[in-house]
Amino acid sequence: MATPPPPPPPPSPSTPVPEINLTADLRHRLATADRAVVFTGAGVSQESGLATFRGGDDSLWSQYRPEELATPQAFAAHPDRVWQWYGWRHAGVAGASPNAGHHALVRFEALFPSYLLVTQNVDGLHQQAGSRGVVELHGTIRQACCSNSRTGACDRRMDMGKALERSPETPPRCECGGRLRPAVVWFGEPLPQGVMERAAAAAGRADLFLVVGTSATVYPAAGLIEIAHRAGAVVVEVNPEPSALSRLADLRVQAPAAAALPALEREVRRCRPTAT
Ligand code: OAD
Repeated sequence: MATPPPPPPPPSPSTPVPEINLTADLRHRLATADRAVVFTGAGVSQESGLATFRGGDDSLWSQYRPEELATPQAFAAHPDRVWQWYGWRHAGVAGASPNAGHHALVRFEALFPSYLLVTQNVDGLHQQAGSRGVVELHGTIRQACCSNSRTGACDRRMDMGKALERSPETPPRCECGGRLRPAVVWFGEPLPQGVMERAAAAAGRADLFLVVGTSATVYPAAGLIEIAHRAGAVVVEVNPEPSALSRLADLRVQAPAAAALPALEREVRRCRPTAT
């Protein structure tokens, strides 16, 4: 039997709770929604201490060049540099904990008969919070895989922490002789097999599509928002800043996820008094 989700924690007195003003029409649509899809990006983990990719001086791509660190060409040319950078990011992820936003999404799941959480994040914090069946579009930094997996020649994987322990400076070799690499998607690489198809099918059937903490600039992932909007879903965006696709949102909650998601979850629960 499924474990019941943890009860909502009381709001922290130091976190300002954003006001969420729902129109009667939105209340009705939220009350009658059966199928919910949540789509998250780096912003949901920002309050867990993990930097986002874009926006602000401390974002990753304002400090580092993605073409030197996050492409197969960069890894082929400078494997040690790329391995060490991912080692540094892995240490950040390993030391991070889910925040109130991740936990609110676990409770959100119980409100809908059908629910799917799709993430662009590689940090595994949704799963650590207790979300189930998470679709990881861009892979995971918690595992290393063989470089030869890209040609289908080798499917060996291992825990990234163990691979880094074995060899922190240089990517260790797989049994097949290939170099181990982080099991993430780099620019120019295809997404893991089947994940986009699954996410797109769910987006196309969604009654509610909740977008959290993404700049909505990286495709094909960002296209899910367009699919859901075209299919008539209520699109709700949680982001303190406008994103590239904010115009598609029926409701925008302009606040950080750790404060906004618990407040939104409470509002949606109020609209659906019969949900567990
Ligand atoms: P981005 O860094 O592009 O966008 C982060 C978004 O989070 C921005 O729109 C911020 O305004 C928002 N944000 C910041 N703090 C927030 C908070 N506390 N709560 C809610 N939102 C907040 O991250 P992604 O859209 O996830 O791809 O980036 C998409 C992809 O680009 C990543 O998966 C990665 C990157 O290159 C690959 O590595 C393939």
